[in-house]
Amino acid sequence: MGHIKILTEHLDREDQHDIDAYESRAGYAAVRKALAMSSEEIIAEVKASGLRGRGGAGFPTGIKWGFVPKNTGKPVYLLNNADESEPGTFKDRALLERNPHMCIEGMMIAAKALSCHWACIYIRGEYAYPAERVSKAIKQAYAKGYLGKKIFGSDFDLDIVVHRGAGAYICGEETGLIESLEGKKGQPRLKPPFPAVVGAYGCPTVVNNTETLATLPWIIANGASSYAKIGTDKSAGTKLFSASGHINKPGVYEIELGYPLLEFIEKECGGVRNGRKLKAVIPGGSSVPVLRADELDGVMLDYESLVKAGTMLGSGGLIVMDDSTDMVEAVMNLLHFYTHESCGQCTPCREGVRWVYKTIGRINHCNGTFGDIRLLKDLCKNISGHTICPFGDALVTPALSFLNKFRSEFEAKIEAATSMHVGSSHG
Ligand SMILES: Cc1cc2nc3c(=O)[nH]c(=O)nc-3n(C[C@H](O)[C@H](O)[C@H](O)COP(=O)(O)O)c2cc1C
Ligand code: SF4
Repeated sequence: MGHIKILTEHLDREDQHDIDAYESRAGYAAVRKALAMSSEEIIAEVKASGLRGRGGAGFPTGIKWGFVPKNTGKPVYLLNNADESEPGTFKDRALLERNPHMCIEGMMIAAKALSCHWACIYIRGEYAYPAERVSKAIKQAYAKGYLGKKIFGSDFDLDIVVHRGAGAYICGEETGLIESLEGKKGQPRLKPPFPAVVGAYGCPTVVNNTETLATLPWIIANGASSYAKIGTDKSAGTKLFSASGHINKPGVYEIELGYPLLEFIEKECGGVRNGRKLKAVIPGGSSVPVLRADELDGVMLDYESLVKAGTMLGSGGLIVMDDSTDMVEAVMNLLHFYTHESCGQCTPCREGVRWVYKTIGRINHCNGTFGDIRLLKDLCKNISGHTICPFGDALVTPALSFLNKFRSEFEAKIEAATSMHVGSSHG
């Protein structure tokens, strides 16, 4: 298990970004097939494949498409979410940069399924090179008549544009992305209504992650049942993991879902660097709970196994920490990111994240008290579930999970602070 390559088969080829090279390796064959299918047939195929969204929540893609109302008289929009800003997550970048046509072909298939004629790739502001590669690939596709009017000689019209973000994590949240696309401040909207019904410019809109869309050509070319056979019963297919931290071979890896986590670190990532001991792993990007090394036996990299272990697969940003890691400092670093990225729309998030960051900082810099641990818990309770978007929970999760799993390290710093202050007060 672990070595079927759906997304990465040609990723390391120098010329894969070029349209001729892409076509020489069966590129754009799946969309030709999809164009001969009805929307319902494509949606049924994607449902049967078991594909789940790769942007973090893991919601089944075909079911999500089924929420788009038909015949509203309004256009349907497809947005490829390439905002990828979660700390530890850099897997979409590899696809956009090294196989942009696969991302475009996936969008074409989704567009046909959704009867959408205008689609957009929203690319993270910092991703200058991937944006350049994608823009060039779109140009090549237009030049061949694969985009624009009557694509591939069919009766289907499709335009795809690139939209660059300006570097805000919250624009990866689907409604924040839509607001930003509309030219407004990137601030999430209250849901419902969901974008499938009222999305970009008030029209039905599907927001899908880049990896989700890039998987579609394989599913259409090889059939839903071939895809459903890969992975586990409820977590079908392969998944890209971006592995970073204290490992010998950081990088982007494609594995079959259900692959054992410890084996992944040992075999794919080359093990923990400098032969040190493993201390902790964040398996799915910074907003999922951290796991201690002693909790990893028997844990598999799939949606269900990770939930059972008390965490989540998230966006697949696996961060490894060895026994030299100061866990209070590590979570303070993460909180620094969240403090910077709150959009400021709701008070519990805007004020709370700064407060959580400052409290952890106080403990980390040996100025904290045991009352700060109670304060942290209280703050997190008042943020979680009281915000417009899931960002609030995304910051509470690391704060609480680091505190609960590595409480002795927090306490040791508080005890050190207490003894330092007692010492100084005695002169
Ligand atoms: C704070 C925040 C940031 C997010 N950032 C991203 C992102 O960069 N890329 C992404 O695909 N999804 C991101 N998401 C999830 C999206 O809101 C959405 O669920 C996803 O794009 C849907 O695509 P999928 O169904 O293909 O997974 C983020 C969610 C939140 C709450
Ligand atoms: S939770 Fe935070 S990021 Fe989300 S809308 Fe509220 S203030 Fe903005």
